[in-house]
Order: sequence, then structure tokens, then C-alpha cells
Amino acid sequence: MRYASITDRLAHLGSGKWSLHLKAREMAANGIDVIELTIGEPDILPDTALLDEASHAMRSGRTRYSNGRGEPGVLAALAGKYRQRRQDVTERNILCFPGTQTALFAVMLGLVETGDAVLVCDPLYATYEGVIAASGASMVPVPLRPEKGFHLQAEDLEKAVTRNCRVLLLNTPHNPTGATLTRDEIAAIGEVCRRHDLWIVCDEVYEELIFDGAFASPFDDPALEERTIVVSSISKSHAAPGFRSGWAVGPEEFCTRLLAVSETMLFGGQPFIADMTAKALSEDFDTAARMRERYRGRAQLIIERLAGQNLLHPMMPEAGMFLLIDVSAMGLDGASFADRLLAEKHVAVMPGASFGEQAAGFIRLSLTVDDGQLADAVERISAFSKGLDGPERDPARVLEHDLLTTT
Ligand SMILES: Cc1ncc(COP(=O)(O)O)c(C=O)c1O
Repeated sequence: MRYASITDRLAHLGSGKWSLHLKAREMAANGIDVIELTIGEPDILPDTALLDEASHAMRSGRTRYSNGRGEPGVLAALAGKYRQRRQDVTERNILCFPGTQTALFAVMLGLVETGDAVLVCDPLYATYEGVIAASGASMVPVPLRPEKGFHLQAEDLEKAVTRNCRVLLLNTPHNPTGATLTRDEIAAIGEVCRRHDLWIVCDEVYEELIFDGAFASPFDDPALEERTIVVSSISKSHAAPGFRSGWAVGPEEFCTRLLAVSETMLFGGQPFIADMTAKALSEDFDTAARMRERYRGRAQLIIERLAGQNLLHPMMPEAGMFLLIDVSAMGLDGASFADRLLAEKHVAVMPGASFGEQAAGFIRLSLTVDDGQLADAVERISAFSKGLDGPERDPARVLEHDLLTTT
């Protein structure tokens, strides 16, 4: 039988990037004591008031069809949230989706197609490649440099732009690096986007998980408002990924055009989840603050425990729920390191290569297990790397790395 080319384009971009994670789950199911530091699943439950709201709404009949844009209550709550950042936002600037992921998928379909290109920072969140490929567009990676704290540099963006580029897919705070762009950096990046007439799609799912410093977004810059679309959700901010509740916020014409795409795809969302989301966005909950505290503390714990390990270089994240360790001085790439670490010490971490070429020398640790387990995992990582004193250690890479991190 014949299939559409999208199935070929996405064939290697689905769960393939998570194969180590799946293997770890299989090992755990077979009784092996695996410590899982792979996916970014908050280790906090949503506030009980939100669970009660969803349950109450469901029981009081909020289980009927909704509409394509979103329920009035959640649209009003979202308009309120974004009006704090930009006064002109109304319900007509918003579309609800089941999570950031679906919002990204729909937004990309609305902006690009075969023949177009999308600029993406590398390292990148693992599903971006698939989202772009699904639309038929090609991906143009823009390297993020470790020596710049993985902050996108406007001049690197400028160098990467080609004639076919239509969109910059930005992610701040960034997964996997935690890099959080400053207002000045965004202004410089925005200037490049204006010059090349690029849309900016900004994934802000980690907005509430910044450890220090302020959040900045192209959405808040009046010079960029006509070309910026924000996608986000309550998955991280309210520790509620299973509710699948997200949105896109952008120019009115964009939302009007995309509404038909969304209606065709989804035929509306779930009113009881909309009610829960409206409550989440209109009242104060301490979920994000508790996560910030935990994840920052755990990142520091890793850094402290690896302090004596001069061949492993953990990087303190500015935000989010992950930490990268540069393992290149060990003479192994991140994927081989992660494979062997799982096989020999039963610690599952993501190989950096799942997040792009620039991350190939890294492993990514999720900060979502308790401190005791994390300390145990770090012990095992240390023991594993100390055991690697054979030919894998590559003195040239050690020197190269030291030069890089001291400049
Ligand atoms: C950068 C980024 N974007 C989007 C998502 C998916 O978010 P959602 O659960 O809202 O679909 C994730 C999940 O880890 C993520 O890290």
C-alpha cells in the first residue's frame, strides 16, 4: 500500500530519540534498580484545588463539545495573563490547544510548507525537528555556543538565515540548556528577524521555572508584536502535563486563519480542562515556586558532588528541570556515555545527540527525582567515569575542553 510522505519524514523523528528512556523502563520493569533521569516530568502533583475544579466541572456537565478557539472562561483568563505583559491582548489573539506540542504542530502548519525553512537553535527540544518536518519545511540549525552559556547570538542567527527562511523557532527558557534570553538579546535577535521578515514562534513552557533573573520575550517587545506567536501550557507551570492544556497567542489575523486549522484538527477541547486551566491562570498557586526551589537545589547538588571530577563538566542551568554535563573530555560522545552508564550503572540519562549536533558531547539529566536518588545517581556517574581510565579518555579533548571553558 502507498502512504503519504509525512510518514517517511517523521519515521525517525518520533520515539526514536527516546529509545534509551524506553530501554530503561524495560529494565526497570524487569526488576533492575534503574535511576531514571530522562524525561521532564514534574515530580510534584497539581494543586488539589485544580484537581477538585476539574472533577467538579466534569460532574456538573462540563463534558459537552466546546468550540475551536477555547471556552470563554479560559480565553478570558489567558487574555488577563498576557494583558499583564501587553495591554492590547484580547481573546481574539488566543487559540487553545491540547498542550504546547499540539500548538507548535498547528502553528507550524499555519506558517510554513514544502520549500520553506525554519531556523532553530541547536541544541533543540527533541520534537522540534518532527514538527518542522511534518509541515514539509526544512530545518536550519543555528548553533548555540557553550562558551556563550548557550544564549543565541544575533550574529549567529544572521549567518544562518537563508532565502527560504520564514520562521525562527525560539525557546526561552530553553530545553535542554536552561538558557534564558535577556531583553537585550531578544532585541538584537528581533532586529535580525525584522530585517529578514521572519515570524518568531516562541516556546515559553518554562516561563515560570527561572531560578534567578527576569523572563523576557519577543512578545513583550512592541517592535516585534506583529511577527511573534507564543506557545505555552500549564504542563510545567502547574505540574499538569497529563491534562494536555496549552495555547497559542499571536496577531489577530494569524489566529483567525489558524482557527480553521485547529477546528479541522481538534473540533474543540474539553470544557472541564478549560475550567481547571482558567482557575490555574487566575489564582496564585505555589507549584512553580516549589519546583524552582527543588530544581535549583538539585542542580547545585550535582555541581557540588562532581566538583572533584575534572573530566565531567556540569553546567548550572538558569531555568527549567534539566542539567547538561559535558562528557567530551572522557573521550566518549554523549550517546556512548549514556548507553554504557545505563548498562553498567543503571542510570538513565538522555544522550545529548537527541537534542541536536551541538549537544552530542553532552548528557542531559532530569532534575525530577528526589535528592537521595539524585545523589545516588551522581555517585554512580562518578564511579562510572572513574572506571573509564582506559583508551576512552582522550587527553586532546581534555585540553581542548579546558581551553574552551576558560575562554
Ligand atoms: C521546550 C518544550 N516545549 C514543549 C514541551 C511540551 O509541552 P506540553 O506538555 O505543553 O505539550 C516540552 C516538554 O517537555 C518542552 O520541554
